[in-house]
Amino acid sequence: MGEILVFLGPPGAGKGTLASWYREKTGAKHISTGDVLRQAVKDETEVGKTAAKYMNAGKLVPLDVILDVLFEAVPDFSTGTILLDGFPRTVDQAEALEKRLGKKNLEVDRVVLFEIPDEDVVKRLSGRLLCPNCGAVYNLESAPPHREGLCDVCGTELIRRKDDEPDSIRERLKVYWDSTSPLVSYYRDRGKLVPIDASKGIEEVRSELKNISNL
Ligand code: AP5
Repeated sequence: MGEILVFLGPPGAGKGTLASWYREKTGAKHISTGDVLRQAVKDETEVGKTAAKYMNAGKLVPLDVILDVLFEAVPDFSTGTILLDGFPRTVDQAEALEKRLGKKNLEVDRVVLFEIPDEDVVKRLSGRLLCPNCGAVYNLESAPPHREGLCDVCGTELIRRKDDEPDSIRERLKVYWDSTSPLVSYYRDRGKLVPIDASKGIEEVRSELKNISNL
């Protein structure tokens, strides 16, 4: 039986890193709205052109844009396990998702909350490197590539994300606490929230996720 799983947490908490691992382990369909938007920016689509302005500034893209992006990426929520990474990010988005799922008698099953202090986020994002070709994510401190500056998977030169500049990181954290953190009580009140300590090392966070997922 499939399920609908949400990874919720501040920028840099490790949602993408753990989601890739979880997908490999379970075969879940992993949708990162951030990744879908970055691809649209790269492809210079209309959505990408609109989204880039918001993303580079560390702000959320507008509700109608993000709903189109999500529902195009996941036309059918009823098959297999679906892992939503970076969506929903506001109560409005959560309500829109609930409405959409409700039409098919579905609901979000579990929301894994990645808890981490802001200072750890700043440190992690300052050291993050990304492969612009295959999307693999590295960290200068905790997960460096084998060859300096090059992707282990495809050999492409690694880049820093535009929104990992200090001003943008600060803005993203502010947006998280103002607009996304209300989802913690939203999902706790519905009995869906499962918090994990995301400030630990990657292996430890994986084993916490393993325990709560019976993997
Ligand atoms: P998005 O790409 O979703 O960014 P985010 O939520 O800010 O999350 P990040 O990708 O920055 O961090 P992460 O938690 O995935 O951490 P990672 O695994 O990379 O969104 C980008 C933008 O798109 C948004 O700002 C917004 O503009 C727009 N957007 C997206 N969704 C939207 C929505 N629903 N509504 C509106 N707008 C939306 O890890 C971070 C670093 O730490 C890496 O270097 C990694 O190697 C390292 N690391 C990971 N885990 C550990 C660990 N346990 N210990 C040590 N290092 C670790």
